[in-house]
Amino acid sequence: MVSHTEQQRTAAEYKFGDSTTAAARLMTVAQVFAPSSRAFLQRYAVPAASLAVDLGCGPGHSTRLLHDVVQPKRTLGLDRSASFLAAASVGAPPGVSFRPHDVTVTPLPGERPDILYARLLLTHLKDPVRMVREWTAELAPGGRLLLDEVESVETSDEVGKNYQKVVESMLLANGQRLDVGRLLTTAADAAGPTDVRQQLVTVQPSSQQVGLMFSLNLRVWRPDPFLVSSFDPRWLDRLQAELDRAAAGLRSLVVTWTMRQLVLTR
Ligand SMILES: C[S@@+](CC[C@H](N)C(=O)[O-])C[C@H]1O[C@@H](n2cnc3c(N)ncnc32)[C@H](O)[C@@H]1O
Repeated sequence: MVSHTEQQRTAAEYKFGDSTTAAARLMTVAQVFAPSSRAFLQRYAVPAASLAVDLGCGPGHSTRLLHDVVQPKRTLGLDRSASFLAAASVGAPPGVSFRPHDVTVTPLPGERPDILYARLLLTHLKDPVRMVREWTAELAPGGRLLLDEVESVETSDEVGKNYQKVVESMLLANGQRLDVGRLLTTAADAAGPTDVRQQLVTVQPSSQQVGLMFSLNLRVWRPDPFLVSSFDPRWLDRLQAELDRAAAGLRSLVVTWTMRQLVLTR
């Protein structure tokens, strides 16, 4: 049995920040991933759900999408960031609410949910396999855990590859991994006797969207002690300038995401 205090120690630092720059990035992220997430939720969410919970909801884009597609009686977004939760709560539609909570700490607040949804969250946790097991146990009988996570990010562009080098090494130094989707089949096995379905989908944003997401992220990371000690600042300046050019529509930047979408039914 893991104590509450031990559980809290497994929550990793979220390296992507919660400033207005980080929130602006999540706006583009929401536009890029909305079609694949919507199709996933339409296909696999439990109909007539009473409570749907969005784990690591950020500024609430994934929560609103979840609520819109599933139309449960109530949708609850949970996150650790006070500023993201404040942004999420502005103009929240009826039935949608937000609460501060470290999602690595169980039990989750409220009654047992029929749906637990996590998009782009597990990358940022230290022990994703354990969390899949614990969240599955939190569901109401017949409930579903829907995971929408990165399997791979691929590019043949040098600027894209250099950006990947930065993000992957920073996450690794923090005990996290970008391609967390690759762990999810193991995670599903560890969750015990559940019905598991999964699919891989590719997402191809425009060069400008890729540029925006990457350039805003790099801006957030620049003061991070790991970046400061691991990369030549002039090399980072050149990378930032190329990403800014892509964000402004002045260069192409082709990057393909593969998402693993996994459903565990309790
Ligand atoms: C990449 S964002 C994704 C946000 C949202 N799910 C979406 O798809 O737009 C990851 C979110 O997880 C949150 N987060 C990271 N670790 C967390 C934890 N242990 N407990 C609660 N929230 C966490 C961050 O604050 C951030 O809002």
